Amino acid sequence: MDKTFHITTFGCQMNEHDSEILAGALEDMGYVQAASRDEAQVVILNTCSVRENADKRFFGTLGQLKRKKKEDKDNIICICGCMMQQQHIIDTVKEKYPWVDVIFGTHNIHRFPELLKSVVQQKKKAVEIWEDGRDIVEDMPMKRLHRTKALVNIMYGCNNFCTYCIVPYTRGRERSRKPEDIVREVENLVSDGVLEIMLLGQNVNSYRGETSDGENCSFAHLIEMIAKIDGLKRIRFMTSHPKDLSDELIDVFKSCDKLCKSIHLPVQSGSSAVMKRMNRHYNRDDYMRIVNRIKSAVPEITISTDIIVGFPGETDEQFEETLSLVKEVGYDSAFTFLYSVRTGTPAAKFTDQIPEDIKHERFNRLVKLVDSISAEKNRAYEGRIEEVLVEGKSKRNENTLSGRTDGFKLVNFPGDESYIGRLVKVKITEGKTFSLEGKIV
Ligand code: 5AD
Ligand code: SF4
Repeated sequence: MDKTFHITTFGCQMNEHDSEILAGALEDMGYVQAASRDEAQVVILNTCSVRENADKRFFGTLGQLKRKKKEDKDNIICICGCMMQQQHIIDTVKEKYPWVDVIFGTHNIHRFPELLKSVVQQKKKAVEIWEDGRDIVEDMPMKRLHRTKALVNIMYGCNNFCTYCIVPYTRGRERSRKPEDIVREVENLVSDGVLEIMLLGQNVNSYRGETSDGENCSFAHLIEMIAKIDGLKRIRFMTSHPKDLSDELIDVFKSCDKLCKSIHLPVQSGSSAVMKRMNRHYNRDDYMRIVNRIKSAVPEITISTDIIVGFPGETDEQFEETLSLVKEVGYDSAFTFLYSVRTGTPAAKFTDQIPEDIKHERFNRLVKLVDSISAEKNRAYEGRIEEVLVEGKSKRNENTLSGRTDGFKLVNFPGDESYIGRLVKVKITEGKTFSLEGKIV
């Protein structure tokens, strides 16, 4: 009988990508993917610690796995990801969830096959957490989630220490991969049929790769190197810290056809005072200057953002400034978050925490505004013809395909499977709040 596995991924694309590596390692070891967690012998929970509700969901799921371990003690429960880089989480797991077999962190994913083998052979728990990223490990096998688009890490960690954020503590300091290693990975992906890549990093704008000749390579230059790969159609990236966005990158938006005209530019708040307390290193004017520079260089660009509501000390007036910034920028979409206390970050110790009911009230107002602007932006696409990379069938309807425009808009349209993995022209018939409807032309 086949040995089976199942991975549940919480959190961001970085984690999604780590799960692709874990799946690749398991397939190399002869495991096959199970349809559900219940059917799998090896279960992995890849965790996120950016906000508290992800913690809660994780512990809920971990609680459910007790029964699974009871049913068959040979089932192996593995947990990994950002939460494991926090000592208080490891302590809680050891004390309250003794059915966990393997624990590892964000810096030693490549050690997972060894840890799993030792558990299978010696029937002992394996716990291994590294505090820091050591050398970057290249050429790990991976099982990719999508056929035509792929996630490619270009750097790890973050040096920014925004006062609300746990990531610098769980993912460590910034480390950039060598440009040649990245180019080689993309070349291999393209020869496998990949048309679109998403370059990943906590702050891709501060990418500093070193070439084999010892030269520095900027993020903008890396994009130019990757764009030369024949057969690759689209390049995207995520995430950019506004303070590090260079004119060189804006120039590449203009000169490089393959670089998709969309940018995710987290603002976090519209108030300069709050930005300062968040340690964002820009104020409202700086941010607007950057947005306006991008818009005037690349008028068709779509802009998305992340916003936190209810950061400690946020006054009503400061929240109003967030609303007015959202209107001023006119975001195509925005991820909105309720501020969530993360133990170990500076903001967790700020004494002026905002009451939950006020946070929720502000949050609801913000979401309403963000959605109405998204809908208005999307309606402006009605009648236009857009090039769409067809990713697959829509989740809601068997006979509907879905894909993304160059500007990252989700489009649903009628069509059969033969279009999947192709770039097609679609006439937009309706702009909704979160997606566009269209017809292939
Ligand atoms: N509370 C709420 N949102 C947070 N984010 C990061 N940390 C927190 C927190 N403690 C949000 C930021 C970031 C996104 C990935 O998650 O907006 O850009
Ligand atoms: Fe967190 Fe700020 Fe780094 Fe983004 S830039 S990962 S929000 S510390």
